[in-house]
Amino acid sequence: MRVQSMSSTIVLLISSTLPLCSGALVANESDTYFTLGNDRFVTHVNKGLGYIDYMTLDGQDLLGPRAGSTGIGPYLDCYCIPSGSYTPGSANTVFKLFQGVDSSNVAYGGVVMTNVYVPTGQLFEQYWFLRDGETGLHTFSRLAYHNSTTPFLRNLQEFRTLFRPSTSLWTHLITDESFYAPLPNPNPATGNSANSTTVQDATWYLGNRTNDAYVEQMADYFTNPRLVRRRIA
Ligand SMILES: *[C@@H]1O[C@H](CO)[C@@H](O)[C@H](O)[C@H]1NC(C)=O
Ligand SMILES: *[C@@H]1O[C@H](CO)[C@@H](O)[C@H](O)[C@H]1NC(C)=O
Ligand SMILES: *[C@@H]1O[C@H](CO)[C@@H](O)[C@H](O)[C@H]1NC(C)=O
Ligand SMILES: *[C@@H]1O[C@H](CO)[C@@H](O)[C@H](O)[C@H]1NC(C)=O
Repeated sequence: MRVQSMSSTIVLLISSTLPLCSGALVANESDTYFTLGNDRFVTHVNKGLGYIDYMTLDGQDLLGPRAGSTGIGPYLDCYCIPSGSYTPGSANTVFKLFQGVDSSNVAYGGVVMTNVYVPTGQLFEQYWFLRDGETGLHTFSRLAYHNSTTPFLRNLQEFRTLFRPSTSLWTHLITDESFYAPLPNPNPATGNSANSTTVQDATWYLGNRTNDAYVEQMADYFTNPRLVRRRIA
């Protein structure tokens, strides 16, 4: 008797939680973009370009002005086609919108972008998922390539997901609680190269700076994380 009444209480708890979760989570689309949102976090995936171009937390714009290629991400990018760099998402792209409740009984929404680079047949996928009650996205990137007739296998140099805000809201680089630093000031990556010299494509020597918190706290060298080429092959 006791066991039976306990289990019916559990069933009641689960079913009363469901409407709350699905009420706060938004996963819908207009002609030009998808929206993923919950009570605090809202983001748009641009259907024409295949990347995120809008993101707010508690109403605060996290990406900044959207002019040209600034203020975007996370988005997929690679150095992997025969000619080099490629940003999947404009031509030959299909999107799929997801909405559901996961095994922890939390509502989620997601967008999956699938892009084919037609000249080689390389397939790219980017996943963006948001759970109710969370203030960040879950992302996953996938690359597939099958071409037995004319294989192209020489050029998978990098495969990366980039977050490129154009706002001065972001002030620090953080790996974890014990490894972080303020951005250099002035930041040579944004064109102000005072007392700096380029030593590699996205790395500067800043050791002569006398009053730069990045140099004092972290290092004489700075690599722009937004431009760094992560070698994977
Ligand atoms: C998506 O849902 C939100 C919240 O219900 C609503 O404000 C918005 O108009 C919807 N967008 C579309 C394109 O249906
Ligand atoms: C394989 O690669 C060749 C040359 O890049 C291309 O012409 C062909 O369409 C590709 N095959 C597939 C199935 O994508
Ligand atoms: C750093 O200072 C040294 C010694 O004054 C000088 O030779 C060098 O050119 C300076 N480099 C930069 C990047 O300012
Ligand atoms: C630039 O470097 C020179 C020495 O090369 C130093 O005297 C000066 O204070 C530096 N300025 C800044 C802003 O770091």
